[in-house]
Amino acid sequence: MRLLVTGGAGYVGSVVAAQLVAADHEVIVLDDLSTGHADAVPDGATFVEASIEDAGQALDGVDAVLHFAAKSLVGESVEKPGRYWANNLGGTLALLEAMHERGVRKIVFSSTAATYGEPESSPIPESAPTRPTNPYGASKLAVDTALTAFAGLRGLGAVSLRYFNVAGAYGRYRERHTVETHLIPNVLKVATGERESVSVFGTDYPTPDGTCVRDYIHVADLATAHLLALGACREGEHQIFNLGNGTGFSVREVIEVCRAVTGHEIPAVVGPRRAGDPAVLVASSERIQRELGWKPERTELRDIVADAWEALSGI
Ligand code: UFG
Repeated sequence: MRLLVTGGAGYVGSVVAAQLVAADHEVIVLDDLSTGHADAVPDGATFVEASIEDAGQALDGVDAVLHFAAKSLVGESVEKPGRYWANNLGGTLALLEAMHERGVRKIVFSSTAATYGEPESSPIPESAPTRPTNPYGASKLAVDTALTAFAGLRGLGAVSLRYFNVAGAYGRYRERHTVETHLIPNVLKVATGERESVSVFGTDYPTPDGTCVRDYIHVADLATAHLLALGACREGEHQIFNLGNGTGFSVREVIEVCRAVTGHEIPAVVGPRRAGDPAVLVASSERIQRELGWKPERTELRDIVADAWEALSGI
């Protein structure tokens, strides 16, 4: 298939683009490089440097779009909500209009677990109420709402994948954010000497060791889910699937595993809670396993961290 991957110079987008190239698809990466890196575009893909509002010609002859391009920092979204609504919702609506004009009728959308907000129960199924607690999650939920409407009104075939905490690396493709807020890369930066210590945001949560519990999914398993989702797009339907590895790990457990993998003592400093962090976020991936046959392979936290460490440290 001829596929457009928006945000294909970013972390998850580049891994998916690489897997699509490996599966012999014709891949066009569209990215404005606002947070992505040109050298992350996989060999064999065509690169178009443009924003999603200007997808235009890049859509000519395309069979389906895999849409990753977005602003994705929860904290920043609270400080600059307009940027999140304009980029994530406004940009996606422009992309959907351009797709409609050119007769492109399939899309796989990178949604988020942040659409659920503070969960009522764990693990979280797709039927859980969507009550996002920040503009990032709200803007992604708005896109999901639009996709449902466009599927019903225009016959669009859409699949939204709601991820939890993506981690690990796939070959040379790894997490490289200019402003790094995520736990695993921040812990590993202590081991490389880029940071003195890691902060533990709160130890008074109602969890076994008092720190937040998250569901870490390997980026390669996540990418596999996108390829399955692409095959599952059915015109006139909007399907939503959660993706996680089903097991939660606490902040302290993550730091311990990073110590074991890197052999570095990794000093940790306990600090206050970070605003907006739910105590436990663990996904039920039962639906995608049952309906699309997805099966995560790199579920051990040690393997996930080891892959991230290998890509970061070059060992
Ligand atoms: N944390 C620390 N110290 C750090 C960084 C993070 O203690 O230096 C803690 C956080 O407080 C949280 C956990 O580690 O409890 C994981 O934090 P991340 O920032 O790595 O990830 P989040 O769970 O906040 O966010 C992830 C995705 C978001 C998505 C969200 C869904 O990265 O894009 O899940 O709730 F929106």
